[in-house]
Amino acid sequence: MQFSRVSLSIAIALAATVQAQTVQAAPSASEQTCRACHDMNSKKVGPSFRDIAASYRNDPDALAKIKKSILQGSTGKWGNIPMPANAIPDDEAERFAHWVLSLNK
Ligand code: HEC
Repeated sequence: MQFSRVSLSIAIALAATVQAQTVQAAPSASEQTCRACHDMNSKKVGPSFRDIAASYRNDPDALAKIKKSILQGSTGKWGNIPMPANAIPDDEAERFAHWVLSLNK
């Protein structure tokens, strides 16, 4: 996977910002971190939560895959900009994963 220099440096800048925020923020504030890059209905830095939900609609492993992406980051699934790993607890990643999939209902 090859990234353009520009989107890579944007991603690195964003990742640095996000890390700085994560250190200060309480766990309950991590949703704000996600929203820096994700919108409910339209593409922002990352795909919209509804698009993500829809693309996993028929995937029996959706929960595990989404949780893993949230915890470890994700590259090349949606475009050229990678998602950095999110420094949140395991159970919170699971909560987010459930929440994303609940948008299909
Ligand atoms: C710095 C920007 C950024 C932040 C912060 C961020 N994301 Fe992402 N996210 C992205 C990008 C970009 C992608 C697409 C990655 C790819 O193409 O694989 C993505 C993809 C995803 C996906 C789809 C993964 C997949 O496997 O298809 C989920 C789910 C997701 N993000 C949830 C979250 C949640 C929840 C948070 C907050 C805890 C969060 N993101 C924070 C940028 C971000």
